[in-house]
Amino acid sequence: MIPQAFIQDLLARVDIVDVIERHVALKKKGANYFACCPFHNEKSASFSVSPSKQFYHCFGCGANGSAIGFLMEYSGLGFVEAIKELARHVGVEVPEDARDKRAAQAYAQAQPLTELMTLAARFYREQLKTSEPAIAYLKQRGLTGQVAARFGIGYAPDAWQSLDKAVRDYSDKALLEAGLVIENDQGRRYDRFRGRVMFPILDARGNVIGFGGRVIGEGEPKYLNSPETPLFEKGRELYGLFQARQSLRAENTAIVVEGYMDVVALAQHEVQNAVATLGTATTATHIQKLFRLVDRVVFCFDGDPAGRKAAWRALEAALEPLNDAKQIGFLFLPDGHDPDSFVREFGADAFRQRSVDATPLTTFLLDALGQDIDLHSAEGRARFAHDAQPLVLRVGAPMLRLQLLKAVAKRCQIDEVELMQAWGLKPPPHTVRRASAPPPRSPRRAPTPLETTLLRIILQHPAWAARLPADLIPDASDEGRALIAIIDAVSIGELGSASPLGALLEHFRDTPHSPVLTRLCTAQSDATIADEVVETLFHDTVNKLHGKALDDEFNALAARANALSAEERKRYAQLLQQKHGNPAGRPKVSDS
Ligand code: UTP
Ligand code: MN
Repeated sequence: MIPQAFIQDLLARVDIVDVIERHVALKKKGANYFACCPFHNEKSASFSVSPSKQFYHCFGCGANGSAIGFLMEYSGLGFVEAIKELARHVGVEVPEDARDKRAAQAYAQAQPLTELMTLAARFYREQLKTSEPAIAYLKQRGLTGQVAARFGIGYAPDAWQSLDKAVRDYSDKALLEAGLVIENDQGRRYDRFRGRVMFPILDARGNVIGFGGRVIGEGEPKYLNSPETPLFEKGRELYGLFQARQSLRAENTAIVVEGYMDVVALAQHEVQNAVATLGTATTATHIQKLFRLVDRVVFCFDGDPAGRKAAWRALEAALEPLNDAKQIGFLFLPDGHDPDSFVREFGADAFRQRSVDATPLTTFLLDALGQDIDLHSAEGRARFAHDAQPLVLRVGAPMLRLQLLKAVAKRCQIDEVELMQAWGLKPPPHTVRRASAPPPRSPRRAPTPLETTLLRIILQHPAWAARLPADLIPDASDEGRALIAIIDAVSIGELGSASPLGALLEHFRDTPHSPVLTRLCTAQSDATIADEVVETLFHDTVNKLHGKALDDEFNALAARANALSAEERKRYAQLLQQKHGNPAGRPKVSDS
């Protein structure tokens, strides 16, 4: 638990150029430093390090990040280890006790919860030793004591308050907060988990943060899970990650399955690199977490419609975190099988082979999109391109995006350049010249939404965030939400207003904003905005934002023109006059 403030201070003290230079020989060219990329094989130097942004980026493979991110990728360190390493180099101590208030609070709060969870897990493990039915059940499912121990599997006795024996004070409020007990309307407490086989869920450091409990045999619900607590957030955690760590590094592949028992059964058959989502859809955070450890992630789902649907959701979550050095595959099991039953029936080698042969993301994406479409008709092909657009444009990896674009163009029987133009993308200059058909007209670009432009500018000049009107920024898009989050962070001082890009990205690590920020920082098609125009563009865009707010207000009033209050009529007249009196002054954004 390292306070954000410490991380930001640390990043302010180190220079990313120093940090990287210790491992990679850098050459200065202009304001930046370059080298052959340490993360992929190449002959020309496309790996760049920007001292002003405190950010590195490879134009070839898309690798990018702050000094912390570099150490994690290059040296295979965990987040905390990377921070310790950096701190050692600048000779500062990583605070064991959190200094800033918020982190200190979270820390103080989390400590007893972690302890309680550990006590409970120990108690459940002890109980399993003497519970005949639970032992028989696990045996019947093919598990040995060794694997049960590896996963810390336990048993919650079928009684109302058995945890009373495990903890000092059964009335402790922390017990409720940890989700271990439930309180009824009369204020009476009882254990949440009763008569269930218990699967502890661990965080990356091996702390127990939650439980899944399975009924023995039939019963509803089949699995009961810990609620979300300060320790446990389902969309971030993966069951089995802690146990899988070594194997993940060795195999450089993670297999993502759906169930607790799938992970455990695979481990029983020596497939140790499987993890499971916790009864939720796969999130971008899950994928980012795994991509920090491995280069290939294989999603394993049932072959039925529900499995296909889950796979599609995983695909959507993966589009943004993907970079060109990473791979995603989809493994669909034969009907009626889950990984547990499959590995028991056909063995580990058959399972591994299927994971090797998994369908690549691009194939799955294109096939799924084309499923109900007749590509022999012009309408079908148009529909295909239409459906593909939002997905392809979300792909963060530049090369993969290009590959997809080519594949879509081919299936639609149109020229790649035409497709790019139809999608409002700027084709690279040489392709425009080569294009055979009519003389190149200026390509029609979809108007850039205001919030994207602003976000680009803010990423170049984070300090300007303090000058933005947060309340006028629409929060319907990822860009808008990220922008608002940056403004918030700067305004409450979580993020120094002089933070370089690397520090800003670090602040948003593991947040929902991280993918869009990373994508914009590394988007090749839109090089940085030139220094000479950036200030003007900023003012123009902010003006447009104000103009749009006035337009929206005007249109809302106009729509109810017959039913306005006296005050609203006055405001309406005022706006009307402003519009007519100053026709050129406020560009109407909706007209552009
Ligand atoms: P499945 O129903 O596929 O169960 O749920 P399973 O893993 O194959 O379980 P076994 O083999 O019957 O023991 C997959 C996952 O969905 C969540 C759990 O995380 C489970 O592992 N789930 C399922 C629940 O949270 N609650 C439920 O009631 C059922
Ligand atoms: Mn199962």
